[in-house]
Amino acid sequence: MSEWWRNAVFYEIYVRSFADANGDGVGDLEGIRAHLPHLRNLGVDAIWLTPFYPSPGADHGYDVSDYVDVDPLFGTLDDFDALVRDAHALELRVIADIVPNHSSSEHPWFKNALADPSHPDRARYIFRPGRGDRPPNNWPSNWGGPAWTKDEASGEWYLHLFAPEQPDLDWHTKQVRDDFDDILRFWLARGIDGFRIDVAAALYKDATLRDELEPFPDSTFSTDWRRAVDQPEVHDVYRNWRRMVAAYDHDPVLVGEVVFSDPVRMTPYLRDDELHMAFNFTLLFQDWNAEAMRNAIDTSLAALADVSAPPTWVLENHDVTRLPTRYGGGDEGLRRARAAALLLLALPGPVYLYQGQELGLEEVDLPDEVRQDPIFHRMNGERLGRDGCRVPLPWENDAPGFGFTTGSPWLPIPDSWEAKTVERQHADGGSMFMLYRSALALRPQLQGDLSWQPSPPGTLVFDRGDVRCIVNVDGEPLELDRSVLLASEAIDDVLPPGAAVWLR
Ligand code: BGC
Repeated sequence: MSEWWRNAVFYEIYVRSFADANGDGVGDLEGIRAHLPHLRNLGVDAIWLTPFYPSPGADHGYDVSDYVDVDPLFGTLDDFDALVRDAHALELRVIADIVPNHSSSEHPWFKNALADPSHPDRARYIFRPGRGDRPPNNWPSNWGGPAWTKDEASGEWYLHLFAPEQPDLDWHTKQVRDDFDDILRFWLARGIDGFRIDVAAALYKDATLRDELEPFPDSTFSTDWRRAVDQPEVHDVYRNWRRMVAAYDHDPVLVGEVVFSDPVRMTPYLRDDELHMAFNFTLLFQDWNAEAMRNAIDTSLAALADVSAPPTWVLENHDVTRLPTRYGGGDEGLRRARAAALLLLALPGPVYLYQGQELGLEEVDLPDEVRQDPIFHRMNGERLGRDGCRVPLPWENDAPGFGFTTGSPWLPIPDSWEAKTVERQHADGGSMFMLYRSALALRPQLQGDLSWQPSPPGTLVFDRGDVRCIVNVDGEPLELDRSVLLASEAIDDVLPPGAAVWLR
């Protein structure tokens, strides 16, 4: 058994926005395939594809209407096979997003359930009578409004923790469990190297459907306070999936989106016979603040000290504001994001990068009329949603659509990204892309546990074997007394605030 994933760097591909091969303005599998050599050159170990299954697109693929096919928007099963084959030839692994918490309301299962309350598919979902005119309980949807929508024909309500177009599946129903076993096997047989499990802690809901305690805290990650989720039954599912993937010779891996602000709550999911790893967003939640960042790292390491699963490290994904923008935007935000790249890639354990992070892309302030995220629309603009981090990648300087598409990109690419294209960054030794590439090439030299070293206020200093990582967050300029392996910017012997180095 190879534990290829233990220190792997995964690259998240938001399929709609990576590269469009057929000119319809939306990224696709062929577009990804054409750029695999670029990812090899960057130096990542694996790619994670966001959902590419048939979907009406209410949540851009996180509403699946067929779990065992490819949406024509993205290609065909043959394209999928070709992508996996080419990726493997380049020694890149491929993991797929699986969405077991909810299906699309357009899935035949849900359509059957609505058409006939006595249809066996009704039991795949959570339909309940209301309380008079009101929903069965007080659960809110994560994206505004109640988590229940009334099926006018039967008078019952169905549960959806996200949008009404994403009805939650009832995992207490055996058929649901059996179907997902088959779905996983379908993709494993096609050579997939693992699964990223969407909303992994929410599959089972509290069977009594008791009310949540009000007022509901204002937290993006509602798994923190929902008593309805994180139920014990979910662990049997992951034990079963772990046994299933272990039967394949190519060592497929399971990574859960298990989001709690306290990483201790992840640990039951990471027992030896459950998930190989879970996303750890503790560092992502922090501002540019040395104490907070160190605390996030220490809390993560301590939380997972008693399980063999490693902590994972994440600074960006398709659900959060781009890092340079979170760190203050402009030149300063970008400098900090460069320094953060050296922090991230110096940490022990798997790292997840999000496409465009390696280009230093900022959040795009899109006009309301082009925004597509259901969060924006369901919350009447109160939350802007996630379109700003999902703008298609700029590949080439002078091409229309920046080489992302020959057509019109599904979200507009800002003109200022002319300065950020892959083409330009390839040709510039000081670019963010080159920084990531160098760091990824050197990363295998960082070995062993993280060992903190004494450091002045506002700085982070730790060793991994004989390599030292220093991040000057907002401290005094710091004298360097060893030779520089890699620096986040051109420096002499002094490290200014907002910069980082690896030394030996
Ligand atoms: C995914 C989101 C998606 C949601 C519902 C998440 O955690 O990352 O992009 O909207 O699950 O499927």
